[in-house]
Amino acid sequence: MLEARNVSKTYGAIRAVDDVSLRVDAGCIYGVIGPNGAGKSTLFRLLSGFDRPDAGQITFGAHRRIETLTAFQRARLGLMRTFQELEVFPELTAGEILTTAALLRTSLAQARERARAVAADFEIPWSALPAELGPGMLRRIELARCIVAEPRIVLFDEVMAGLTMQEADFMMRRIADLHESGVAVVVVEHVMHVVRTLCRHIYVMASGRLIAEGGPNEIARDPNVIAAYLGKRAGARLA
Ligand SMILES: Nc1ncnc2c1ncn2[C@@H]1O[C@H](COP(=O)(O)OP(=O)(O)OP(=O)(O)O)[C@@H](O)[C@H]1O
Ligand SMILES: [Mg+2]
Repeated sequence: MLEARNVSKTYGAIRAVDDVSLRVDAGCIYGVIGPNGAGKSTLFRLLSGFDRPDAGQITFGAHRRIETLTAFQRARLGLMRTFQELEVFPELTAGEILTTAALLRTSLAQARERARAVAADFEIPWSALPAELGPGMLRRIELARCIVAEPRIVLFDEVMAGLTMQEADFMMRRIADLHESGVAVVVVEHVMHVVRTLCRHIYVMASGRLIAEGGPNEIARDPNVIAAYLGKRAGARLA
């Protein structure tokens, strides 16, 4: 349902995303892993419309080209993402953040009702400002914000980072629920336990390129993947 073909993005001299092609099928769940600076967040920005690729094509749904659509237009099509840096709007309350997302789909009265239902389900304090909340609750709001917008696909960028075990468990269960409900999911994640538990198919990036893909066990044995994480020499020795 979402496909990137030969997508590239350069910042100055850095090829942040270098000729990457990948496919996300409807209702399936994928992982994207790779060392720091591999280009994972940049790829998410290109897919979600927060940045434009220099080259390549992105299609969504019935082969519709979307690489020139804005993030807002893509969200309306059902493509949602979370932010790695918790950059939720600091001046809005939790309830307002959720209501704004629900407005992508419906009128204000209904949006507020839907936002209230999801906030209750996620035990989100309706009137709290982000500054008053801890990282666990902020991530929860990010997840809930995507859900109220009734997505067809959600891109999660390191939503477990900085969370306690309990908070991470909560997020994992809710992401699994979202997937069970038929929504396609892509998670960028450094916590391998999360990727192994959630994802059947994993894409591995390093230095902007897609260097491997496959199931968790396949990936773990791949010499290119080992080399990317441990350095070329260690990779060659292990292989
Ligand atoms: N707006 C930008 N301007 C300049 N360089 C950028 C920009 N965004 C990303 N980069 C560079 O592009 C490369 C890929 O960065 P990106 O954030 O996509 O990596 P990542 O895989 O998400 O890393 P991490 O695991 O640390 O989040 C890095 O070298 C980064 O410094
Ligand atoms: Mg990143």
